[in-house]
Amino acid sequence: MSDSTPSYFKSVPDELPVRRVKTAIVTGASSGIGLELAKKLSLNGYRVVGNSRRITSARTLTETEHIKRVDGDISLPETAERVVASAIQHFGTIDLLVNNAGVFLPKPFTEYTTEDLRVAVATNLFGFFFVSQLAVARMRLQKFGQMWWMQYKSLLWRPGGIADGRGLKAALALGAEGVQIGTAFLACAGSGANTTYREALLSKDTPRTELTDKFTGRLARGIKNHLMDELSDIDSTVMPFPLQHALVQTVAQPASMRGRADLMTLWAGQSVGLCQHADAAELMTELIAALEDIRKSEFEELGRQAETASR
Ligand SMILES: NC(=O)c1ccc[n+]([C@@H]2O[C@H](COP(=O)([O-])OP(=O)(O)OC[C@H]3O[C@@H](n4cnc5c(N)ncnc54)[C@H](OP(=O)(O)O)[C@@H]3O)[C@@H](O)[C@H]2O)c1
Ligand SMILES: Cc1cc2nc3c(=O)[nH]c(=O)nc-3n(C[C@H](O)[C@H](O)[C@H](O)COP(=O)(O)O)c2cc1C
Repeated sequence: MSDSTPSYFKSVPDELPVRRVKTAIVTGASSGIGLELAKKLSLNGYRVVGNSRRITSARTLTETEHIKRVDGDISLPETAERVVASAIQHFGTIDLLVNNAGVFLPKPFTEYTTEDLRVAVATNLFGFFFVSQLAVARMRLQKFGQMWWMQYKSLLWRPGGIADGRGLKAALALGAEGVQIGTAFLACAGSGANTTYREALLSKDTPRTELTDKFTGRLARGIKNHLMDELSDIDSTVMPFPLQHALVQTVAQPASMRGRADLMTLWAGQSVGLCQHADAAELMTELIAALEDIRKSEFEELGRQAETASR
């Protein structure tokens, strides 16, 4: 560097290391969180291998020189092999595995059918295991790589999908120390949601929810309605938050005032089909009763153990 080089530049080496292009595998990349992650990783310079059972026919993730799609059920070992082989053949390394493909059943586990259980275990457990086994073996050889698992944010603190005493009991029985409940309280009077919104949350026809960034510019889950469909059909770039929000509110706010649920932004979690209380005190009473049931069973068990020990 010459003496005329600005001082702030002198600390930069003459030969900068070339930033290595990284490769990510994203399972369940045809919709929801997986699709958005795959797109964001690609925008940030990652080469991406996206998998789902029908990722090609879904046509949500476009195949390019830097994005490869692999169709197949990730709970099958042969799909895991094809996914990992695709990453290595096309891009050479695996830097990140996002285990995102997953099944969430919006009902209490006491109501799972045998088929529900089979699908959930296959996708959430086998679908995690086979691809992780192959990808981690490769990462060990490379001596780098990381893995994310999206099925559960935390087992100790269970957020999402709980709206009643049965869900609370199930979460605690599975090892959670606490739960976070949002949507079920949103459906209760006094929550800030208006009558139309609360009626949609309490509707007996379990509404479908979807993730979208078209409502605000940021990704969030809401009830799938006409407004979401119309916005999804528009093939244009979403404006950054909060501009997109301001734009969409020009429709959603008057719709809200007129009670038009089809044109409102109806935020809701995956527990929406389970909401049944319109009164927060009733919901709390049910949750407290569930906790008391658990405590009663624990005391009974302790009593039995003490009796056995004293014999
Ligand atoms: N959304 C939430 O609030 C939340 C909260 C906690 C955890 N999670 C977890 O985060 C993950 C993504 O959630 P999401 O809401 O984005 O789900 P989603 O919209 O239902 O997407 C699921 C994705 O997984 C794919 N998939 C399902 N079964 C598969 C299989 N056997 N093999 C390969 N791909 C499969 C689906 O595509 P195909 O149908 O084409 O296979 C789809 O691309 C899930 O594991 C979910 O349990 C979500
Ligand atoms: C009205 C409302 C607003 C929320 N806002 C946020 C938020 O800004 N950031 C966030 O991480 N979670 C937010 N949540 C999610 C909650 O913190 C909680 O994790 C979630 O609602 C639990 O899932 P459930 O709705 O299925 O019960 C919100 C939930 C509701 C109902």
